[in-house]
Formats: sequence, C-alpha cells, structure tokens
Amino acid sequence: MKVAVARSGSDSAERQIKLSTDLDLPTIELPSPYSPREVTDFDYLLVYRDSRLLLQTTGGAQTGELCVDFSDAKLNHRANSSIRSQNIAKALGIRGSQRPVVLDATAGLGKDAFLIASLGCEVSLLERSAVVHALLADGLARTGCYGQEIGAILGRMKLHFGDLLEFVADSQQFDVVYLDPMFPERRKSAKVKKDMAALQQLLGHQADGAELLDCAKLLAKKRVVVKRAKLSPHLGSGKPDIEFKGSSSRYDVYIIA
Ligand SMILES: C[S@@+](CC[C@H](N)C(=O)[O-])C[C@H]1O[C@@H](n2cnc3c(N)ncnc32)[C@H](O)[C@@H]1O
Repeated sequence: MKVAVARSGSDSAERQIKLSTDLDLPTIELPSPYSPREVTDFDYLLVYRDSRLLLQTTGGAQTGELCVDFSDAKLNHRANSSIRSQNIAKALGIRGSQRPVVLDATAGLGKDAFLIASLGCEVSLLERSAVVHALLADGLARTGCYGQEIGAILGRMKLHFGDLLEFVADSQQFDVVYLDPMFPERRKSAKVKKDMAALQQLLGHQADGAELLDCAKLLAKKRVVVKRAKLSPHLGSGKPDIEFKGSSSRYDVYIIA
C-alpha cells in the first residue's frame, strides 16, 4: 500500500514536512481543493485539514477518510452509558474502586483504550503501524479541544510506538494486557465498520495472534483480555479461563494470578 503526505491548502507546511520526515513518506503537492478520487499514484494520503490529521483513501469508488477523534458522539455515548456493567469492564476485572493498570497492546484507533480509560484505568497504548501511530498521536495532541471531561480521560492514556513482540517494559508494570489484534472476517453479510475497513485495507492480514497472546501472558501481572468477533476461534491453542459474550464481540480472559 502506497502512502504519501499531501501538501494542500493553508495548513502549516512545517507540520507536513515534519510528518513526511518522521514517517519517511513522500510528499505530493495538490491543488486546493482537490479530490482524492483523482489521485492515482498513491493508495492513501495523510493530510492536515482544520488542524486534524486525516487518512484518505484515493482513486476508485470507495474513497473515504478517517481520523482519531475522541469527541466522537458514539464513542462518548458508549463511555457514558453504563460502561461499568458492560462486558469490557467485567473482562478487565474491575470491581469496587480498584482499577487495573492496562497495556492496550494493539491500540489501533484508540477506541477501546478510550473506553478503558473512561473506566478510570491508566492505559498505555502500543501501536506498531507508523501511520496509525501518527493518527493516534494527533488525536491525543488535541486534548485541549475536547473539554474537561474528555481531557481527564485522555490524561490517563499514554501512547507508545512499537511492536508487542519486541516491547520491553519494566517487568510487572501492567495488571492487564488487552489485545484486539484481528479485524473481523469479511463476510458478505457482515458490515465491517467503515473506519475499520479502511484500516484493515492499509494494514493487511495480521497473522501473529498466537505469538501475541504468549507475549502478553509474560507481561501481564493479573490477566490477559483478548477481544474477538463473537464466533471467531480462540487465539492460540489453549482455552481462555473466562469468556464474556456480547451481541457481536466476545472477551476471552486468561488469568495469570
Ligand atoms: C483491530 S485493530 C485494534 C482496534 C482498537 N482496539 C480500537 O479500538 O481502535 C489492531 C491494531 O493492532 C495493531 N497491531 C497488530 N499487531 C501488533 C503488534 N504486534 N504490536 C503492536 N500493535 C499491533 C495493528 O497495527 C492495528 O492498528
């Protein structure tokens, strides 16, 4: 997949140059306004618009864009509506006033990490894709735009760049390691959410699930939580100790201690 940083409009050229240097990506100059449909040399563009970093798909009929926006109404509705009784809270082992320290080792667009932080947990986010990491860093850097309540949640989230399989942490730093490594399988009838579909296309097939679980078990003090599509097989060969099933997803819990 070919990605470029697009330079267009009035947004700071300095920022665009820094991004292409940091990510080692080419830049292209585009007229303002431009249509991503007309771009054929690259599959994706990273572009700043209204001070937000967007990933746009180019060419073909299915152009779209995504960005990390922690003020998203759906996400905040989920964070506000009885999340303490939801499966994610049960899977993390949240009871009473105790809050586990969590490593979300497959951070993606940071939605699960945001929900976990909204439960009051300190969350470290680990992401190995430089492009996804840049989108996340941009979303987190806009903390000042979101208001106090969201700002407090983001204050509990700390972003890291890297691969879990090579991640060196202080031993016994995390109570829980959370994994959501796989994209839901595409079935004809399945509606893969638009932003996830774009991410899936960019990142391609992710095949190292079993290895991730082994690595997570070494890092977690108390438990590993794996998010799966409801009917997907377990990660790796062993069975989880507990399963929490929802309407579309399932949380497999591996107890360490
Ligand atoms: C399905 S997405 C996670 C979505 C995320 N839970 C959310 O709420 O937005 C999986 C993400 O994990 C990342 N990933 C996969 N394997 C990884 C690894 N070994 N180390 C770090 N990140 C990894 C991928 O790059 C991708 O962004």
